[in-house]
Amino acid sequence: MASDGGEFQDEQPRFAPFSYEPLEADAPFLKALYYLSKNPIELLTRELYENAVSEKTFLGRRAFFLNEPELTKYFFVDRSDVYTIDPVRKLLLKPGFGSGLASIDGAAWEENRALTRRYFKSDRLAGYAGTFLKSAEDACREIGREAEIDLQRFLSRIGLRSAIACLFSSEAPFGIDRSVEAFNDVMKYHMTVDAADVFLLPHFVPRFWKRNAARPLRTCHRIARAVVDARIAAMRDGGAVPDDLLSAYFAKWVSGDKPTPAERQHIQDNVGTMLGAGFETTSLTMTWTLYFLLRCPTAGAKVDEEIAAAPHRGQPLTQWTKALPYTTAALMEALRVYPILPAIVRYATQEDGAGLPEAHIKPGDFIVANLWTQHRDETRWADARTFRPERFLDRTDAVIRQGGYYPFGIGPRGCIGAQFAMIEAVIVLTTLLETFEMKLLASDEVRPQWRGTLRPDRPIPVRLRRRAIH
Ligand code: HEM
Repeated sequence: MASDGGEFQDEQPRFAPFSYEPLEADAPFLKALYYLSKNPIELLTRELYENAVSEKTFLGRRAFFLNEPELTKYFFVDRSDVYTIDPVRKLLLKPGFGSGLASIDGAAWEENRALTRRYFKSDRLAGYAGTFLKSAEDACREIGREAEIDLQRFLSRIGLRSAIACLFSSEAPFGIDRSVEAFNDVMKYHMTVDAADVFLLPHFVPRFWKRNAARPLRTCHRIARAVVDARIAAMRDGGAVPDDLLSAYFAKWVSGDKPTPAERQHIQDNVGTMLGAGFETTSLTMTWTLYFLLRCPTAGAKVDEEIAAAPHRGQPLTQWTKALPYTTAALMEALRVYPILPAIVRYATQEDGAGLPEAHIKPGDFIVANLWTQHRDETRWADARTFRPERFLDRTDAVIRQGGYYPFGIGPRGCIGAQFAMIEAVIVLTTLLETFEMKLLASDEVRPQWRGTLRPDRPIPVRLRRRAIH
């Protein structure tokens, strides 16, 4: 029986988000290269869905795909000293994120992580929550009585405004639309795996699939630079300096009165990293959740009822996740069905005979925790392909983990912003659903495309109409 509580009794129609069918055999080499850059989910074979471990060799590199929570824990938690972030990730992230937190390891990572973690503790989250609410309310005001939006763009604007205001006390330089567009295009054109990445060629070697990425990458660098320059100017002018993550970067990494070019670059890389890692993932989570709720009237009605009963009113904003359990469960379920990072990868730095005794792991082997397949394993998740928020009601974290649920990763390199994201997503969705009736304007099926993150393959047009009481 599935570990998440077994069969569901209700007869109400439920929505099964689009799911790719497994391949029966490995794709031929050229097709594999093509889909690696376009949508690697389409390359997954049946054995990757069904076996606890599958070994694949591609261009002479061994990779082990894990479907088993216990094994995932071994590699990502127990032996995280031996299994580090992989060189393909570094190649992918370097042009955008440089020396930022997500693309480094060793002592520099430890120091950076400890510094950054302080800005994601509960006292800080309480301060950020007011900004999430304000970003959502501002977005509602901008809509007026009625408008047609593309769901992802709309939610990305809210997500970016929130992240930049919370972490760097700033607004989006060059305007919110241009900034969202640039980050969006970086994901679309740069965050794909090119053949040159698989060969681990240095990042200055031109990448065929990424020819459209140079301009948006430059714009993202200029955004990070503008945030940093504005702070340098404020400090020079003797103005009040906010107590935020950006100030912590300056305090930690600037040795003199003003940053050297290298120090400034390092701060910019970290600003870009936190914005890129923070707003894209959260915005996509909100996008998929709302899309599923619009496609699934049963779950949509339950969220509407819960919010209309207003159990969150009068509660601190950080407690809305608890006050609105069904809405929170809908977000968790969306992250199960469509994990925004569908796989997380580690790289063996030493021999290891214990992890997978039959394979005997060697330095240079890749370990892939396949969240896409673990989250839809029928032996652990009843009715796995169907969107059923109920499965996350009244369940402890331990039970959820046993099921192999890791939308925020696992171990010391797990997501630093998980709570930030959940608090923001509940506040934003609740505010939008309280303010507007929403209607999906296209009936075609939206498919997930894995381009660094799991993104919709087309716009999702939605009509927002202000509710009578607003
Ligand atoms: C629902 C939203 C989010 C999802 C699904 C998500 C998912 C993840 C996952 C799976 C990882 C682990 C990658 C690995 O183990 O290799 C990760 C790491 C990371 N996340 Fe998130 N994330 C989200 C929101 C955020 C937010 C809001 C922030 C910051 C504002 C953030 C910042 C980061 C950073 C900096 C890392 C790298 C940490 C390190 O390498 O030490 N994320 N995220």
